Amino acid sequence: MTTTTTGALGGAATRAGDVIRLNKINKVFQTKRGPLPVLSDISFGIAPGEVICLVGESGCGKTTTGKIVVGLIDQTSGEIFYEGRDSRTLKGKDYDAFRRAVQIIHQDPYASLNPARSIFQTLSAPLLRYKLARGRNDLNAKVIELLERVDLTPASDFVDKYPHQLSGGQRQRLSIARALTVEPRFIVADESVSMLDVSIRMSLLGTLTRLKDELGVAFIFITHDLAIARHFAWEGRIAVMYLGRIIEIGPTPQVINDPQHPYTRALLGAIPEADPEVTRTKERMHLRSLDIPSLYNIPAGCAFHPRCPLWEQGLCDTLVPPLYEIKPGQQAACHVMAREVAGIQPIDLRDAPDAEAAK
Ligand SMILES: Nc1ncnc2c1ncn2[C@@H]1O[C@H](COP(=O)(O)OP(=O)(O)OP(=O)(O)O)[C@@H](O)[C@H]1O
Ligand SMILES: [Mg+2]
Repeated sequence: MTTTTTGALGGAATRAGDVIRLNKINKVFQTKRGPLPVLSDISFGIAPGEVICLVGESGCGKTTTGKIVVGLIDQTSGEIFYEGRDSRTLKGKDYDAFRRAVQIIHQDPYASLNPARSIFQTLSAPLLRYKLARGRNDLNAKVIELLERVDLTPASDFVDKYPHQLSGGQRQRLSIARALTVEPRFIVADESVSMLDVSIRMSLLGTLTRLKDELGVAFIFITHDLAIARHFAWEGRIAVMYLGRIIEIGPTPQVINDPQHPYTRALLGAIPEADPEVTRTKERMHLRSLDIPSLYNIPAGCAFHPRCPLWEQGLCDTLVPPLYEIKPGQQAACHVMAREVAGIQPIDLRDAPDAEAAK
């Protein structure tokens, strides 16, 4: 088998100064039907204030990745580094600091908010727990400030309300305010706007964008909608997931304007454009099959090959593609594009040199 140098492969896991870094995360759920491998070999880092969008179809592992990053569920193998330290080795005060620094806004805000707690109670509990407010007046002022930050105004109208008295968009804003109580450095926002009506979605997206700019918080922004990813993370990166793997990652404008993986091209082809002329002329990627294979029975080689119009027998159904650096800063797990665009000879992921060890 031909080999390549680490220079042709992604080094996303090896950047210095990242707030959070995932290194070869695997997750297998034990289910009644047997082991379910939900995440395979997920590696990327996030710099302070950076935004990375995780996109992909339902069930590809976005929420599971987010929950593992913030420590809500354990990975089966691999490491999460917080400021360079393995999060599983953090103890006592260091562990508390980690749990405070990384927050998640859940996919379903209704399920994650305590219905018996008023808005004031919801927001004041973490402020008190982490001793972030001094005395009653300071606590009141901080709760009001948080509500204003997420545009739940006039704030005094909201403090005594309960989650069931809020609309879907307002509940999502409350979830964001609660995540902000503890002054996080890093937020996982899981489908925070996807489920909302278009006008409410745009308004909430505007609030999140303002918070990102004002607070300098790093984000993993999870969405199945590439149009939302394009809007929120234009200055950041996009990571496209398929069946538990990242199959393309790179700066958003590059991934959107010049996608390298056939799956990314197919996803982009499905986004309607405002200009019908653009939609008509946009390159269409015709998949061989529309069915997503089961995680219980992931296809051999490249998991996308049964649907891929570019697949080559003996290559794509045999070798697991690593993330090849096809364009500067842009990596895609496609043997054919790596060879055609960048002249990189195919290798199997399992034979790829360890980027970490090669540092
Ligand atoms: N606790 C669990 N036990 C068993 N399987 C699970 C568990 N949690 C998630 N899964 C499975 O793992 C896979 C990935 O789920 P996940 O929720 O991460 O996907 P997702 O990309 O967030 O999807 P969606 O867009 O629908 O939210 C799915 O097949 C799901 O059924
Ligand atoms: Mg999800």
